[in-house]
Parts: sequence; structure tokens; C-alpha cells
Amino acid sequence: MKVVVIGASGTVGSAVVETLKQAQHEVISVSLNAKNHKVDIASTESIEKMYQSISSIDAIVATIGKVKFAPVTEFTEDLYMFGLQNKLMGQVNLVSIGMRYLNKGGSFTLTSGILNQDPIPMGSSAAMVNGALDAFVKAAAMELPHQMRINIVSPTVLTESLPVYEKFFPGYRSVSAKEVAQAYHKSVDGLQTGQVYPVGYSRVFA
Ligand SMILES: NC(=O)c1ccc[n+]([C@@H]2O[C@H](COP(=O)([O-])OP(=O)(O)OC[C@H]3O[C@@H](n4cnc5c(N)ncnc54)[C@H](OP(=O)(O)O)[C@@H]3O)[C@@H](O)[C@H]2O)c1
Repeated sequence: MKVVVIGASGTVGSAVVETLKQAQHEVISVSLNAKNHKVDIASTESIEKMYQSISSIDAIVATIGKVKFAPVTEFTEDLYMFGLQNKLMGQVNLVSIGMRYLNKGGSFTLTSGILNQDPIPMGSSAAMVNGALDAFVKAAAMELPHQMRINIVSPTVLTESLPVYEKFFPGYRSVSAKEVAQAYHKSVDGLQTGQVYPVGYSRVFA
């Protein structure tokens, strides 16, 4: 299968690339500052150009997205809009535009995270964006054309990211990037659709 991984150079993305290559897939690595295949998910024009430069895509995986962290009392509209435009609409646009480029029976796999299920202080934007992404995937799965599928991976904090995030996740179990990558593998090579795959924690509500 030809799999396009957007965010391929990141902590999650690089483990996903390795796992998919081990599964004998042809992986096209895409990111903001990549040498060959660049995209800026903030721009629909850039997304369109990226898809146009890659022929016959069987699976699209997004391991990208940023949000701001701040106490809820200090959040501003601009701070919330940043996460909505970057992590939420960046991935939604990858799907909306990607539908025109993905092969029949192809799949999308997006990325959310634990924070809408098990929130932390300063995480109101992350919770909002992750919840919206999980809901989007569930609904979009019913309407995708040409037998396309869509799932989303929702990891807890990665062990590799603890040096940066540990103080924000006291008492949380971490999970290795390699284990997280297995959920993307399951989404790409399986037949399920509309699923949220939690990794490293149990979901409290659907
Ligand atoms: N790390 C964790 O513990 C953790 C836990 C749960 C959920 N998540 C979620 O997993 C996703 C990835 O996190 P990560 O820790 O792997 O991030 P990361 O290491 O910072 O990697 C981010 C990736 O996104 C690319 N990127 C950044 N801005 C972009 C843009 N505007 N357009 C296109 N690509 C862009 C980067 O490309 P360049 O390298 O080329 O700049 C890089 O490949 C995020 O949604 C995050 O919320 C992460």
C-alpha cells in the first residue's frame, strides 16, 4: 500500500513511519520542513498541492496538530482559535481535500489524545479539540465515499515526550511511541471505520 504520513518527522510520526515500513508499505513522509514532500496544514492550497504531487494514495495518516496550554481563566479567543485552526481544521481539511485523492477503499487515520477523556489543568483547548476530532471521525465515517474508512488514534502521553510534558501529567502512565504506532498500523491494515483507538488508557465515555 502507498501510505502518506503527514507529520512524519515528529515523535509519533517517526514511529508510525518505521512501523508501516516494517509492514512492507511504501511510505511517503510529509511534514512542514521535509526535504521532498512539504505541506503546511494551515493552508488548504498547500494541502491541495501536496496531494497533487503524490499519485495513487491508499492511506492517509495525520500525526500532527498543535494547541495552546493555559489556565482556563487566562484563555483568550485567539488562544482557542489557534488549536481549532491548527490541530482540528488542519486534520479536517486533510480529510475534506484528501477524499478527492484517496483510492477507492482507502483509509484516513487521524490523531487526537487523552485530554478530552482525562483532562489536566491548562488543557481546556486540547480537550475541546480532541473531543471535536473524535466526534468528527465517528460522523464522517458514515458518509465517506467510495468505501473509504476513517479512524483516529488517541494516545496518552508518550514516554519519549516525558522530558517536556512530565510535569503536566502527574501520575499518568506513559506509553512508548512504538506501542502507539501499532494503533495506526491496525487502522491502516484493518477494516474498521469510525473508531477511536485509545492507547495507554481506557476511555470513560464514548
Ligand atoms: N507526544 C505526545 O506525548 C502526544 C500524546 C498524545 C497525543 N499527541 C498528539 O500527536 C500529534 C503529534 O504529536 P508529536 O508529539 O509527535 O509532535 P511533534 O514531535 O512536535 O511533531 C510534529 C510533526 O508535525 C509537523 N508539523 C508541524 N507543524 C506543521 C504544519 N503546519 N504543517 C504540516 N506539518 C507540521 C512537524 O514537521 P517538521 O518536523 O517538518 O516541522 C512534525 O513532523 C499531535 O496531535 C499531538 O497532540 C502527542
